[in-house]
Amino acid sequence: MDFYDYEPRLRRPPRMKTPELQRDKHLKHMIFASQFDRDLLEHLASVADLIRVLARDKAGSDFLSTQLSEKRAMLYFTQPSTRTFLSFTAACQILGITVNEVRDPSLSSEAKGESPFDSIRMFSSYFDLIIMRSRIPNFAECCAYLMNDLEDFNQRDVPIINGGAGTDEHPTQALLDIYTIQRTFQFTSPQEMDGHFFAPSARYESSSASRARFDELRERPEYSGLTRGLNNKEYCFCGDIGRGRTVKSLANLLSLYDDVTLHFVSPQHPKLGLPGELQNRLLNAGARVLTHDSLESLVDGVPVIERADCLYMTRIQQEYNEPGDADSFRNINFDNYKLTPDLVARMKDYAPILHPFPRDANFGEIPPTIDTNPRAMYFRQARNGMWIRAALLAYLFNVDRDIASYYRRNFAEYTSYAAANSTT
Ligand code: CP
Repeated sequence: MDFYDYEPRLRRPPRMKTPELQRDKHLKHMIFASQFDRDLLEHLASVADLIRVLARDKAGSDFLSTQLSEKRAMLYFTQPSTRTFLSFTAACQILGITVNEVRDPSLSSEAKGESPFDSIRMFSSYFDLIIMRSRIPNFAECCAYLMNDLEDFNQRDVPIINGGAGTDEHPTQALLDIYTIQRTFQFTSPQEMDGHFFAPSARYESSSASRARFDELRERPEYSGLTRGLNNKEYCFCGDIGRGRTVKSLANLLSLYDDVTLHFVSPQHPKLGLPGELQNRLLNAGARVLTHDSLESLVDGVPVIERADCLYMTRIQQEYNEPGDADSFRNINFDNYKLTPDLVARMKDYAPILHPFPRDANFGEIPPTIDTNPRAMYFRQARNGMWIRAALLAYLFNVDRDIASYYRRNFAEYTSYAAANSTT
């Protein structure tokens, strides 16, 4: 694909791009994880919590489904997807947005030679939002610039959401990952996390079960320094770090928090290890960054698997293999990047195991025998994607405050994540 017209804009550092992707300090396009700050992450998490509560009954669902019923979304997914495609579809449906899709460009007029940029412009003629996934790293970013150029010429333009861009970025996956970690580190019980047992207003510090679980953990000498929230934690990423777009996006967001250590466990191979550029960005953001070739690697005499407050497993992404890679991977012991029940048993009791999914059933980085372990959070993580993506859509189209007002009128005051995170 020819990005010639966009090259000067693509080459700029991320901090110079961010202002162009917003209007009046409000996100317009969602392209990079670095567009989120802590305030926005906490706001979206709170809105997601309200939406998941409201969606539980007919009155709340009916209210939500009127919020954006005048909007139409195009899901343009030319790279395979299950979770991102379906959770965005469900999120749109929750808010009443009508959805349509193009997933196979051989069935669109691209098969007749139409350029993907012309396709995008056509979608913007018929729809109010484009959510897109592509194998090509900068395509979503260029589409956002195309929309901005149209706006400058008083032509119709719509928001672009990046649903995964090659090996580069997957910002809404990072958003749902952060949301899952935020919820996990409130130390609510699994039942509370699913929202089955507690009234909507009985959240976080007002919940006795939550207090009990947290206090019970802190009574143990080894967890006496434990705090709620994402600060003061060690996060471990394991697997294909170099080609993992979800790792890059999430690591960037975690570096926004205080006193964070990021462990990257991967084969020592230039394509699979932590890219130098990402390492520098994380160090500059104030994170402690350590690389390892095994979950057994020692830091201050303690294996990484036992230190981690949160473990993020990833798949070895064979689809990005290039000629010669198979040969250069031959001497790698990939068993080091597979989780086993014995390893899980050595993890901290409260440490969640995350995975962006899909997992590779043939490779087996997380065998299904681990799915019933209470630390296994990956199916909840995927469901959280629906709620937080609905919150993002509500925010982008400015109905998030209306949803919060409706919630307050019909239920009670709610506790924001910012307030919840300030309690230890
Ligand atoms: N995590 C994720 O992006 O999954 P899909 O590829 O199925 O959308």
